[in-house]
Amino acid sequence: MVELTLPKNSKVGKGKHHPAPDGAKKVKTFRVYRYDPETGQNPRWDTYDVAVDQCGPMVLDAIIHIKNTMDPSLTFRRSCREGVCGSCAMNIGGRNTLACTCAWEDVPGQAIQISPLPHQPVIKDLVPDLTQFFAQYAEIEPWLHTDTPEPEKEWKQSIEDRAKLDGLYECILCACCSTSCPSYWWNPEKFMGPAALLHAYRWLIDSRDEATGERLDALEDPFKLYRCHTIMNCAQVCPKGLSPAKAIAEIKKMMAERLL
Ligand code: SF4
Ligand code: SF4
Ligand code: FES
Repeated sequence: MVELTLPKNSKVGKGKHHPAPDGAKKVKTFRVYRYDPETGQNPRWDTYDVAVDQCGPMVLDAIIHIKNTMDPSLTFRRSCREGVCGSCAMNIGGRNTLACTCAWEDVPGQAIQISPLPHQPVIKDLVPDLTQFFAQYAEIEPWLHTDTPEPEKEWKQSIEDRAKLDGLYECILCACCSTSCPSYWWNPEKFMGPAALLHAYRWLIDSRDEATGERLDALEDPFKLYRCHTIMNCAQVCPKGLSPAKAIAEIKKMMAERLL
């Protein structure tokens, strides 16, 4: 019989329960992933009975309330509170999303389960290590490449050409898409992932960019682009309503057309 051994720290244990304060009128339970590699202990699920009538409507409001009033050791990223910076991305109720734009009232189930973005190393609690994600973004060289001499004022673009960037430039690099993509889970080092590829397409179709051929050459590889199997998780979870899958399909089309 095969003996399966779980990797170190992969077994999540039962954690502490933090009860609601006396007199709380409306209580919602949050089940939160806790992990501190410095302790050498396995992760655990802590539960917090939050007096939600004392905090704002979003999951981020509840987490901030937990940190401020129940457990200051809880660690997470956040900055803008407006769905703009992308830093509060986490898995809430089984779905990758932004904690600051996700209302706790809209999450189904008795307890709201919160864990870090999946399939990334965890630095602490709800903070994933996105080093590779951002290295892949850097790899697509997200800036204008030009050969023609720089104009005196600005690089001009027609209204129609500018409109081609809509649905792409709005990406806030939250990583919800890439970390929900099965192809990215299985080949995180080789497949660029939906976010980096969406940005690759954003520069490929920019009318001012003069490196289209080189950009396509850089993606011509069995893994970097072609590991996308159009499973569409990326488009389903994007909190900005973007479709990396569509951008990837457009790159594949550009690849095919240049062979004709
Ligand atoms: S469409 Fe492609 S990139 Fe998007 S989740 Fe599916 S495999 Fe991943
Ligand atoms: S495409 Fe959407 S989900 Fe993916 S990183 Fe950009 S904003 Fe986040
Ligand atoms: S805190 Fe900036 S996107 Fe949520």
